[in-house]
Amino acid sequence: MYILFSLLALLPTVILSSPIWNPTPESHYDVVVVGGGPSGLSALSGLARVRRKALLIDSGQYRNLLTRHVHDVIGSDGVTPAYFRWNARQQISQYPTVSMTNGTVTQIAKLNSSTFSIVDADGNHYTSRKVVVATGLRDILPSTPGIAENWARGIYWCPWCDGYEHRDQPLGLLGAIDKIFGLVLEVDTLDTDLIAFTNGTMTAEGLQVLNTAQPDWENIVKIYNVKIDNRTISTIERIQDGGIVNNIATKTEYDKFLVHFDDGTTAERGAFFTGWPSVQASNVGTDLGIGMKGNKLYNNITTMATNIQGAYAVGDANMDGSTNVPHAMWSGKRAAVDIHLAMAEEDFESAVIAAGLSKRDDDPESDRELLLRYIGEEFENLWKLEATSEYLNFT
Ligand SMILES: Cc1cc2nc3c(=O)[nH]c(=O)nc-3n(C[C@H](O)[C@H](O)[C@H](O)COP(=O)(O)OP(=O)(O)OC[C@H]3O[C@@H](n4cnc5c(N)ncnc54)[C@H](O)[C@@H]3O)c2cc1C
Ligand SMILES: *[C@@H]1O[C@H](CO)[C@@H](O)[C@H](O)[C@H]1NC(C)=O
Ligand SMILES: *[C@@H]1O[C@H](CO)[C@@H](O)[C@H](O)[C@H]1NC(C)=O
Ligand SMILES: *[C@@H]1O[C@H](CO)[C@@H](O)[C@H](O)[C@H]1NC(C)=O
Ligand SMILES: *[C@@H]1O[C@H](CO)[C@@H](O)[C@H](O)[C@H]1NC(C)=O
Ligand SMILES: *[C@@H]1O[C@H](CO)[C@@H](O)[C@H](O)[C@H]1NC(C)=O
Repeated sequence: MYILFSLLALLPTVILSSPIWNPTPESHYDVVVVGGGPSGLSALSGLARVRRKALLIDSGQYRNLLTRHVHDVIGSDGVTPAYFRWNARQQISQYPTVSMTNGTVTQIAKLNSSTFSIVDADGNHYTSRKVVVATGLRDILPSTPGIAENWARGIYWCPWCDGYEHRDQPLGLLGAIDKIFGLVLEVDTLDTDLIAFTNGTMTAEGLQVLNTAQPDWENIVKIYNVKIDNRTISTIERIQDGGIVNNIATKTEYDKFLVHFDDGTTAERGAFFTGWPSVQASNVGTDLGIGMKGNKLYNNITTMATNIQGAYAVGDANMDGSTNVPHAMWSGKRAAVDIHLAMAEEDFESAVIAAGLSKRDDDPESDRELLLRYIGEEFENLWKLEATSEYLNFT
């Protein structure tokens, strides 16, 4: 008991003055965050609030770069993605221990058990104790003319993001045959005039894939009155821009497109939802040795920690199966909390040694238990339930 109380008394001074962690050069950080989308910014915010020294490096190729407005993010519904990021950066920049820089990280490597080395394309070199991979996903668009040009502005990926602006409009569904019928169930509350453009994929082989992926697709076609158009698409042409023709008050955008087929015929649609694949936007995570699950970085979806000790994966890039801004922010915050606790524990262990103290060998409490018991709930009440159920098993 006496030892515990003396430890408690020492904690603030010992940890804050960090006698164990050597004075750090300017390029050494507690945490380097790679990627400045909502997940990386959120991780940085969480670290800023507890005065961790952190650097965010961002190459600015945001997944929603081209989209007109951010939706389904409470408090920010309808703002432009650029405003959303600017506002986040303004707020985060008020915290002196964190900084943000433009750059493309070309390599993250582990120097030893407690240090990462981070290099960017301009040759800047940084070290850090922890690293957050927040590099996002990249959408693979077909090369059909008109698709890349209109991506995110009439040709969309997620109904939550952009469906409401095109409610009750003639809708097209684009994608490999096995991907598009699942979309029907998602958009049914938004639009009922649906054409699935299967682009010549309704071959015997294609139908076999479809039957496996979506065994009830024929019922979906009947119940939701989906028309199937198997003509081969040659181009998609914009004939009206919903960025110009719209009604802000009612949140409606009036895009119009002509789908041109290789036989010279056309079909008119107001907007499209798609089922195209995506890949990791960067390979710095996998090059570091983080595993993959499908196209996602393998991690513990409770803490965001990866198989590489000290490296975390967040946002669209991680494997927890959700890709949207609120989720990206949640996962960044989650990593920040786990990182802060992990570093607090490491510093605490160092401080115990530095102070010439030692815990009794038969003390049933681990360092992290002891930390959590005294300061854990104050750190982050949000994770209290988890702290009691899971972290208490941490040794
Ligand atoms: C068309 C479209 C519209 C969308 N609309 C919405 C919406 O309305 N609401 C919503 O909730 N979600 C929306 N989303 C999803 C949302 O964009 C993503 O879920 C979100 O951006 C994921 O955040 P992130 O931080 O993981 O990745 P991103 O936002 O993609 O950010 C990743 C960042 O990492 C950087 N980066 C990558 N590699 C490196 C490297 N090696 N070095 C340095 N930096 C690097 C990239 O340049 C990028 O800036 C939309 C997606 C699309 C495609
Ligand atoms: C960083 O990149 C953003 C665009 O992503 C740009 O607006 C800004 O000026 C850049 N900052 C610097 C210091 O180059
Ligand atoms: C790891 O490497 C860094 C940078 O070279 C060094 O400062 C640190 O003492 C090393 N730590 C260990 C545990 O070897
Ligand atoms: C349509 O099919 C052609 C031929 O297979 C392909 O090149 C093209 O990318 C497809 N377009 C779309 C929009 O799927
Ligand atoms: C769909 O188009 C492809 C390519 O033109 C063709 O081989 C296939 O028979 C068509 N499927 C149907 C059901 O018409
Ligand atoms: C994830 O991390 C938590 C907390 O450390 C741990 O309790 C849990 O077992 C881990 N999950 C997996 C799947 O490893």
